[in-house]
Order: sequence, then C-alpha cells, then structure tokens
Amino acid sequence: MAQNHDIGIDLGTSQVLISARGRGIVLREPAVVAVDRNTGKVLAVGSDAYKLIGRTPGNVQAVRPLRQGTVSDFELTKELIHAMIKHAVGNHWFSRPRAVLALPTGVSDTEKRAILSVMLDAGMRKTQLIDKPVASAIGIGLHFTEPYGNMIIDMGAGASDIAVLSSSEVIVGTCTQIGGDYFDDAIIRYLRKKHNLLIGDRTAEEVKITLGSAVPPDNDLTMHVTGRNLISGLPKTQTVSSLEIYDALKDPVADLIECIQSVIEHTPPQLASDIFDDGIILAGGAAQLSGLPDAIYQELHIATGLADDPSTTTVTGCARALENTPEMRSYLQDASRSRFL
Ligand SMILES: Nc1ncnc2c1ncn2[C@@H]1O[C@H](COP(=O)(O)OP(=O)(O)OP(=O)(O)O)[C@@H](O)[C@H]1O
Ligand SMILES: [Mg+2]
Repeated sequence: MAQNHDIGIDLGTSQVLISARGRGIVLREPAVVAVDRNTGKVLAVGSDAYKLIGRTPGNVQAVRPLRQGTVSDFELTKELIHAMIKHAVGNHWFSRPRAVLALPTGVSDTEKRAILSVMLDAGMRKTQLIDKPVASAIGIGLHFTEPYGNMIIDMGAGASDIAVLSSSEVIVGTCTQIGGDYFDDAIIRYLRKKHNLLIGDRTAEEVKITLGSAVPPDNDLTMHVTGRNLISGLPKTQTVSSLEIYDALKDPVADLIECIQSVIEHTPPQLASDIFDDGIILAGGAAQLSGLPDAIYQELHIATGLADDPSTTTVTGCARALENTPEMRSYLQDASRSRFL
C-alpha cells in the first residue's frame, strides 16, 4: 500500500512540530529564521538559526517571525513554513499531501488566508485549520463530545489559550500573552533591577527552566548567570537562587491565575461545576514550570494536572484530526484555498 504523507503541523511561536500519520513526530525545530540585514537573504532556518540568537555578527539577525501569539514578520513566516515542509515531506511532495495546521490564536483571518496559500505553494494539496486548544484536547485524548465541561490550558511561548470545551466545541475561550516569554521577560527585569545584570532571552529561558518555580521552592538551588553589568558595561557572573526566581515569577503566575479565574466566571454554571469536579488540564511547553499545577490549585481550589509530554499535545492532535471520521471532520475549518485568494 502506498505510504500516506499527510501531516499535522503545530506552527508555534517558539517551535514548529510536524507529525506524519502513522509515523509520529517527524520534525521539531525552533521557529527561528536568520537573515542578512544588508541583503535580506535568508541564511539559516530552524535549529541552525536558533544557534545564532543573541550571538550574531552585526549584519546577521536571528528572528522569531511569530511572536506573542501572532505573525510579526509575514515574509519570514513564509520562509519558515517552506523550509519546514520541505524538511518533513522531502521528495514526497509530488503525492500532494493533506495537512491539518494549528496556528497561534492571535493570527488574523487575512494572515490565515495568506498562510494557506503558502502551504499550497509548499506542495500541500489541501490544508485545514484547527483551533489550538481543540487540537491539544484531541492530542491528550480528551473526549468532549458530550455536554460536559472540560478546561484545557495550552501554555506556549508567546501565548496561552484557556478554553472550556463541551459538546465538541469551544464554549468559552481566551488567549492571553502570559506564556513562557512573559515569564522570561519577568526574569530579565528582576535580574536587571536586583543585580544590575542584563541578560539575553536565551539565558533567561535557561534560568527559568533550571530554577523557576510557581510555588516556594523546597530546596534553594543556585546557578551562575552571566550577563552584562549595567553600571560598568563589563561581563558579570552572578549567583542566582531559586528563591529569587520564584520571587521574579510570582506576579506573572498570579496574572495567569487571574485569567483562568475570569474564564471560569464567564463559564455557564453547570459546565463550571463539571470543571470543579474534574479539574483543569495544562498542556504546552510553558506549563512545565515547576509547581504550576500546585499554584493553581492553591489559589482556585481546582485540581490541576499536567498532560504527558505537554509540548507535543497540539501536533499529536493535528495528526489525529487527519482521521476521516465525522467527529474529526467537525473540528476542522474547511478552508482549502486557491492560490488566488
Ligand atoms: N521545563 C520547563 N519549564 C518551564 N518552561 C519550559 C520548560 N520547557 C520548555 N519551557 C517553555 O515552553 C515554551 C515553549 O513551549 P511550546 O513549545 O509549547 O511553545 P510554542 O507552541 O512554540 O508557542 P505558542 O503555543 O505560544 O505558539 C518556552 O517558553 C519554553 O521556555
Ligand atoms: Mg504551542
């Protein structure tokens, strides 16, 4: 039997993941493009471009074309999609595969149409869109066809989608910019204020992953963090503790919990009561911040759990949504576009 090359794609603001039907995840690359500022030429895409972040020579810039849950540079987004599809589909493009694509929630309808044309140019026969929280819920294996309330929170780098799903649809949903980048920015501000230490995005992310916690840490771990001394302008290495990073992340975590509370307040009471009974599911890479489920439970008194392998739930759901069943078809926005749109 001929192999099927249909794919599910999670075009995230920090990572692109592609899953092929029956083959699992075939691509996982940073959503980064490196360009020569003088000529506009694309020099590298994905992990090769990621290595250049914060350490490029003057004329080379490593850019994340999707930021804060939306498209910040369309031309580079196009380059990113082309390179990733070429990488994942290789020379099977002639079989004109089908794709199910999850985009950041803040992408506008015009940008969506333009992205669908790019998919067509990249060799896809037909691309259908799926809401990110719906894809994550399918990826987790959550059944939400019944009139019963389920809450899922997908916390990515640029944004978090908080959604209540029931009867096969999103009943209440909101997208907030409180995601992994928001936590990184809080760490950058904290270290600048407390230690006069200026650090880059990648260092902040490393500090968050190593020391970050949403609840007071049990053991006070430390690490050496190198940046620039804002007073002398010279490189400086500072010992930073997990207690300090907990302090830095307290407010952003409280902001997130406030958003969750507001979604619950806007949820029909019967569905809200189901969520109180069954709890909240966290997905997305940023949900891995240590102690986050406990912090939510302590504040809202709703049991909260982390999905298995949280950064792959969206793409797994996209790939499952390729199954030709009435249920899966009902989740897809049938937006197969001609290149003239
Ligand atoms: N162990 C960890 N602890 C805390 N944060 C983490 C951890 N591992 C990854 N992250 C964060 O997860 C985020 C990336 O998550 P993910 O890959 O789900 O984002 P994305 O899908 O590209 O973004 P979006 O969904 O906003 O478009 C980054 O901010 C990263 O720092
Ligand atoms: Mg994501």
